Amino acid sequence: MRITIGSDPTRLIDQAADAVEALVRATPDAVLGIATGSTPEPLYAELTSRVQRGLDLSRLRITCLDEYVGLSADHPQSYRHYIRTHVLEPWGIDSATAVLPAGDAADPDAAARDFERRIRDWGGVDLQILGVGPNGHIAFNEPGSSFDSRTRAVELTASTRQANARFFEHLDEVPTRAISQGIGTILESRHALLLAFGEGKAPAIGALVEGTASPEVPVSALQRHADLDVYVDDAAASHLQR
Ligand code: GLP
Repeated sequence: MRITIGSDPTRLIDQAADAVEALVRATPDAVLGIATGSTPEPLYAELTSRVQRGLDLSRLRITCLDEYVGLSADHPQSYRHYIRTHVLEPWGIDSATAVLPAGDAADPDAAARDFERRIRDWGGVDLQILGVGPNGHIAFNEPGSSFDSRTRAVELTASTRQANARFFEHLDEVPTRAISQGIGTILESRHALLLAFGEGKAPAIGALVEGTASPEVPVSALQRHADLDVYVDDAAASHLQR
C-alpha cells in the first residue's frame, strides 16, 4: 500500500488523474472501475477537462462498484445516471462499453451474478477507483461483509441510508438494498486507487492503514490488495499515529 497525504485535495486529485491518464496511454481500452459518491467527482471533472484539452478516453471500458436496488437507470440518484453524466457522456464513451448492474431488475440476485460474470468476461478490472463510507464500507459492503464476498444483493445499514440521504429529498426515498461488488471481487482488481477527504473518513483511514484487518471495517480488507494507492487529505489522515 502506498499512501499519499496532502493538504491540498486539488493536488491529490491531479495525481490520481495522472494515474488514470498513464493507464489509458499504455492501454487505451483498459477496464476502469468507477466509484460513485461525492469524493471522486473532482477526479472525473479533472479528467473531463483533460479530454477537452485532447486526452482520448473514449476507448476505455467502464464498470462500477454498485447500484441501488429499485432505481431505474434514469433516476437522478441511480449510479447508472451518475456514471452516464460524470463519465460516459463527457468522455465520449459508448454506453455499450459500460458494464453496470441492473438495479431495477426483477431478480436483483440474478442481476448481481450477471454483473460479476460480465466483469470476469472482460478479464477483470485494470484500475478500480474507490471511496469509503463513513462506516468503513467499500462499494456497499457494509460492516460484517466477508472478505471473500462476491457481487450480490445487500441490505443497507441505517447509517449508510442516513449518510446518503443528502442526495434524496427524504430519508424514506433512500433505497434499502443495493447490488454491490463483493470485497473478494474488489480485491481482484489489478490496481486500486482510494480517495478519502475530510475528518468523517479519518476512522476508516486509520483502520485501513494502521488497524487489524477485520470484516467490521470493510475497508481494512484492502490491506490485502496487491497494488493499492491511497490519497488522503490531512483531515482524513488525522487518526494516523505513525
Ligand atoms: C456510497 C458508495 C460508496 C462510496 C461512499 C462514500 O455509499 N456506495 O462506493 O465510497 O458512498 O461516498 P462519498 O464519497 O460521497 O462520501
